[in-house]
Amino acid sequence: MRAIAHKMDIMTNATSEAMPSSKSARKSVHAFPRLPGGHLLFGHLPDLKRDRAGLQFRVGREFPDAVSLRFGVVRALMIGAPALANEVLSTKNASFIKAPGLTVFLRPVLGNGLLTSDRSFHARQRKLIAPAFAHKRVASYADTMAERARSFASGVRSDEVLDVSDAMMRLTLEIVGKTLFDAEVGSDADEIGEAVTTAMECAIGQLESFLPLPPIVPSPSNVRIRKAVARLDAIIYRLIRARRDQGGDRGDLLSMLLAAQDEDGTAMNDRQVRDEAMTLFLAGHETTANALAWTLYLLAKNPEARAKVEAEVDTLGRAPSYEDLVRLPYTLAVLKEAMRLYPPAYILARRAVEDVSLGGHLVRRNTIVLVNVLGLHRRPDLFPEPERFVPERFLGDEEKKLPRCAYMPFGAGPRVCIGNHFALMEGHVLLATMLGRLRFELAGGADVELEPLVTLRPRGLRMRVHVREAQN
Ligand code: HEM
Repeated sequence: MRAIAHKMDIMTNATSEAMPSSKSARKSVHAFPRLPGGHLLFGHLPDLKRDRAGLQFRVGREFPDAVSLRFGVVRALMIGAPALANEVLSTKNASFIKAPGLTVFLRPVLGNGLLTSDRSFHARQRKLIAPAFAHKRVASYADTMAERARSFASGVRSDEVLDVSDAMMRLTLEIVGKTLFDAEVGSDADEIGEAVTTAMECAIGQLESFLPLPPIVPSPSNVRIRKAVARLDAIIYRLIRARRDQGGDRGDLLSMLLAAQDEDGTAMNDRQVRDEAMTLFLAGHETTANALAWTLYLLAKNPEARAKVEAEVDTLGRAPSYEDLVRLPYTLAVLKEAMRLYPPAYILARRAVEDVSLGGHLVRRNTIVLVNVLGLHRRPDLFPEPERFVPERFLGDEEKKLPRCAYMPFGAGPRVCIGNHFALMEGHVLLATMLGRLRFELAGGADVELEPLVTLRPRGLRMRVHVREAQN
């Protein structure tokens, strides 16, 4: 395995030049192995529909570097070699845009925000929004995060059984509501959460459908999306209007979005602010909630690691603040290792806008390239005994020793997650605060299932929560 990865690295590093157009280079398209099986008409779409995560695990095991597949008439390539991922996301990023599935079906919900836009518009927006995620600004949100986590932890009764995915979703939704809009979304939280879930389920349903209907067609699913979006818009435009009327910097992300101007002094209009706010709102809570839910699940399965986290947070003797985080490296390592095994953004999709060479092989224009993050994070050549939960992999300098793009829960290149520091800090603060007071055990016999929607959720994760003796 190591040899294959090494060979792939050499091939990839040797081919950063423009696409060769000779006959021999064109022939090399066949060098990527093809995934066996597949329906005569639909290709591998039924496999994807039946068990998306299963397909990714299988490909990761059997074709760890790259494999070509077909979705109907659409050619696709699933890659799991770090060097290839680096080419797609970083060095040859200009040859790719976001895959149409995502943009077409998420656009009714997210509009033309950072996640769904491309090229010069995306570059401009990214530049405008970046200051909102500067280190100092992000650090200023730590108190809100800690305060919400404390209030959650103290509100739980001993022996209470929780749907942990829902609980984490609610907690991170409150936090993003406060840090994004300086608003108590408590009253709106249920409605927002429900509308977002409806819209996302419909969008993913369309994406996986044999006959996806564009958003413009008034199918039952598209009508449900439209209604959910109308409910979300009503809330978000209300918050934007109120803020424009009040003016001033409230220290939240919305203030930054409204104040942001590019070089010629142009600011965003209400629609753009709505799209970016909606994008941050969605991207900023569901992913983190899932990362936390998986972390709690893995700690319940690995009592030794749990004992280490508890010992670490207990040394503080109080609920952690931002300054305390440096003293909690194991807690952070636990979060990172959980995102290795269960990366919330488990697949990244792009479409080639021109013929491009990857690892020395021709990839044709319009090919969908899928970065199999789930498979890549379980490569035994990069992570020995990959199925084991070993937080020590992320202690000290260990992470720095990994090749580029070997660990990429936040993606890579110019489109790397803009909220990665925000998310890591939030996860760190929330875990440390919760685990100082609470211990989560699995409730019920059945193991959880992976539910790969837009992000990777644990389905039916019910946990019994005990209030610990040694408390903050
Ligand atoms: C554990 C939590 C998170 C994970 C695992 C995660 C993961 C990712 C990944 C993998 C991407 C790149 C997608 C691609 O290349 O196709 C991304 C993009 C993005 N994320 Fe996150 N994210 C998290 C938290 C957040 C938070 C807290 C925010 C904002 C508050 C956020 C906002 C965004 C935005 C706006 C983008 C699009 C960036 C662009 O294309 O320029 N994310 N995220």
